[in-house]
Amino acid sequence: MPMCGIAGYIGRKEAAQILLKSIRNLEYRGYDSVGMATLSEGELHVKKGTGKVSEVGEKLNFTTLPGKLGFAHTRWATHGEPSERNAHPHLSTSGKIAIVHNGIIENYLELKEELTDASFRSETDSEVIAHLLEKNYKGSLKDALLKTIEKLNGTYAICAMHAEKEEIAVARNGSPLAIGIGENENFVGSDVSAFVEYTKEAIYLDDFEIGIITPDSVKVFNNEGRELHKPPMRINWDLEQAQKQGYAHFMLKEIHEQPQIIRDSLSIQIPPLQKPNKIFMVACGTAGYAGLVGKYIMEKAAGIPVEVAPASEFRYSSPIIGEGDLFISISQSGETADTLAALRLAKEKGAKTLGIINVQDSTIARESDTVIYTRAGPEIGVASTKAFTSQLIALYKIAEKFSGQQYPLDSLAQKVQAVLDSEGQISKIAEKYFKVYNFLYIGRGFNYPIALEGALKLKEISYIHAEGYASGEMKHGPIALVCDEVPTIAIAPEDSVYKKSVSNMQEIKARKGKIIAVATEGDSSIVQHATNVIYVPQTQEELYPFLSVVALQLFAYHVASLRDCDIDKPRNLAKSVTVE
Ligand code: M6R
Repeated sequence: MPMCGIAGYIGRKEAAQILLKSIRNLEYRGYDSVGMATLSEGELHVKKGTGKVSEVGEKLNFTTLPGKLGFAHTRWATHGEPSERNAHPHLSTSGKIAIVHNGIIENYLELKEELTDASFRSETDSEVIAHLLEKNYKGSLKDALLKTIEKLNGTYAICAMHAEKEEIAVARNGSPLAIGIGENENFVGSDVSAFVEYTKEAIYLDDFEIGIITPDSVKVFNNEGRELHKPPMRINWDLEQAQKQGYAHFMLKEIHEQPQIIRDSLSIQIPPLQKPNKIFMVACGTAGYAGLVGKYIMEKAAGIPVEVAPASEFRYSSPIIGEGDLFISISQSGETADTLAALRLAKEKGAKTLGIINVQDSTIARESDTVIYTRAGPEIGVASTKAFTSQLIALYKIAEKFSGQQYPLDSLAQKVQAVLDSEGQISKIAEKYFKVYNFLYIGRGFNYPIALEGALKLKEISYIHAEGYASGEMKHGPIALVCDEVPTIAIAPEDSVYKKSVSNMQEIKARKGKIIAVATEGDSSIVQHATNVIYVPQTQEELYPFLSVVALQLFAYHVASLRDCDIDKPRNLAKSVTVE
């Protein structure tokens, strides 16, 4: 399972209560099904079902599971449909070993064939882990786990327990896993939001490491069984930041946090960087669009050529990258598999690597030569909003560093607040359009990436088909789609390409297309070309993306809300994509 969530607890308290809370905090990672296993008096107890944590947890009464150790899992299905039998935890044939897994076991079919004595109960790749552990168990869970991971090809974060052992065994390769260190109790999480309520100390497992956890000890070993000394790191997030605080959705809360995030981000320090021959910006989804804005600012301000590539394609395009080049990966989670693979390739080819990352000590952060941590705080909504803004600030600061130019970034928080203050008008416009089936988004120059990002926001949370284009591309095909049922959002602030943007709007209007313009406050003439207008404050050309994107985030949010969509957990998506 590529994007599942894992939580574990071992201590003196009832595990189920704690695990239910922990797994709820990880639900953004997957929400097809959920399960929990606990251990009490030498017996494993398991409950699982399809659906979200709140529904399944309540329906199946998870909190009645007895015991002071256990783990829980929230699934995003890959191998095997979402169903009770495919939900984790999985048990070994004897029922004495339970496991949960995040990742993909690529050789599971071969392993299944070898495990002739095992009774398989699911269609998942993960179940082989439970049976392999049983086969390899000779009284030590640690030894069984070491032998088991030797056989696994693919990615995994694993939690395992044996009915006769008061311990949790964990292992990692390619899927994140952190151990929270408490007093007389310890925790496990796919990320620290699983246990940040209980402890601020965490050990992050690296690839091919395993851990054996009891209430009073955490021991980490390499894959040869040698004990490693891994001091805990301090977690700098708190639970409050990861709660909704009265907002209807995390996404809305996160949109509204942006002025403060901009203020916090102004103090980001850019480490010493040599001016490169060329920059490669590599990322996925929203982070990739931040990289595209980064190209516009870096080339304009610093005159450094920038190539932007979707991380999922970087390896397949035979990239000409090497010494003297700077590879910038941008990632909220720091765990995106494609971005990580691209980073590894860039390193192999001798480029310097810089990560713009939000999650502390995530894999990409740890593997990059240099890291700039963004100051977005925990982003829970699957649709990325505040992380994007914080990535832009980091990119603009790098451009400032390379060019010696200064942008009035300190004016942005107030201007973003003004866009947020117009939420009432934006939601009224959303009311007029929330029933349409198709949307076009267009922008030019600095706002071209925002057209792409605006369209992505709308499609992922409202399921309306939306396409983003460079305004000038309309005539080369997409304008054929324009009619009175296909509205266009045209980002047209008063910048150097304003006149061209207006003429694109006229072309659309002439073909009976409705237009929602994102325009500069005071631009009264725009109403001649647009059906509706969202105004943003006046700013300098390079800074408009910060304002237009917030307007489009709010628009997407309100459309999705009127369509009654599951905004924080859109169908088929997960927050962190840890396989290719
Ligand atoms: O964690 P990352 O920033 O690396 O994630 C990249 C994308 O998966 C992410 O931005 C995705 O596109 C979001 N759902 C967009 O809202």
